[in-house]
Amino acid sequence: MKKNSAYSTTNSQTQKLITKDSFTLISSPLQGFTEFRFRNAFHTYFGGIDTFYAPYIRFNNKPEISNKYQRDLELNNNHVPELIPQVMTNDADEFLIAVHYIRSLGYKELNWNLGCPYPMVTKKGMGSGLICDPGKIDHILERVHAETDVIVSMKMRMGYLEPTEILKTFPILEKYPIKNIAIHARIGKQLYKGGVDLESFQKCLDTSKHQLYYNGDITSVASFREMKALFSKINHWMIGRGLIADPFLPSMIRANTEVYPENRWEIFREFHDTLYKEYDEFLQGPTPIKMKMQGFWEYWSQTFPDPQKAFKAIKKASNPRAYQQAVNDNLKSVS
Ligand SMILES: Cc1cc2nc3c(=O)[nH]c(=O)nc-3n(C[C@H](O)[C@H](O)[C@H](O)COP(=O)(O)O)c2cc1C
Repeated sequence: MKKNSAYSTTNSQTQKLITKDSFTLISSPLQGFTEFRFRNAFHTYFGGIDTFYAPYIRFNNKPEISNKYQRDLELNNNHVPELIPQVMTNDADEFLIAVHYIRSLGYKELNWNLGCPYPMVTKKGMGSGLICDPGKIDHILERVHAETDVIVSMKMRMGYLEPTEILKTFPILEKYPIKNIAIHARIGKQLYKGGVDLESFQKCLDTSKHQLYYNGDITSVASFREMKALFSKINHWMIGRGLIADPFLPSMIRANTEVYPENRWEIFREFHDTLYKEYDEFLQGPTPIKMKMQGFWEYWSQTFPDPQKAFKAIKKASNPRAYQQAVNDNLKSVS
């Protein structure tokens, strides 16, 4: 099988269309999902993503970075076109430690997470809980730009309580050469509930002088086309959960088609088996690997004809043999 793009055989007319209508597709980070094993396997079997953001680095009440991030970020472990590390902090000293860390690993850019919605994070004034504090954002950016030459990009929600919070940060952000601001068009309070707020996102586009990336609920080629028609100024699109649920999505968006490759489920099987093997080698014992794969199946099952049945079969599997049988049964239901 030809790997690296499910659509490596697109005809020349489609190719022309793609070149004329150029845009960048970015994999939005999902802690616990889009780690290096996933990113590498994804790029090998599906392709379509230009840039991957790594899940955030976080400090644990100590001014040092846990060893656990190293394996995920080491350039030798990452076989994707571009990877950008991310940090979540509300402290300038921590930010500076993260800058030195990612520089030592060979990165030039650090993405700053002002989007995380979970109360454990936001109550401490981090993630989307920091958007309402432009003074603190200013102080951190001031020190980072005075003391390092790192390229800073941001990933934000539009606020925690109100989607207007972000508008008050723009005059501060404009003082700095921020590379881009990726905006998940929700507020923190929503968590993942309710829809994306496209009117408020349009206000961001009308107000910010920075380059904005769009993020939120791109789950199909049709929804991508709708967003693209609405926001003609945007040429960077971030996909998070949609890409886990349907890993063909980015390459289909690229090929401007809603038609899956004929060997869709064969490719999916090989991808699944690669992920399983790699995680099985790394995780100790049957329970951790089962839980890891079950996490993925919560998303993958959405693309099966009976999502609940497909997920239930995986959940029920109490040992590795039963798990493999459940996978076989799920794939039999679509072939
Ligand atoms: C389980 C999970 C983990 C996430 N981890 C991160 C993270 O580490 N960094 C980050 O910026 N966003 C994180 N996000 C948010 C996503 O990157 C993305 O912004 C959000 O899901 C909206 O995009 P989507 O609708 O395309 O999924 C996470 C989301 C989920 C559901």
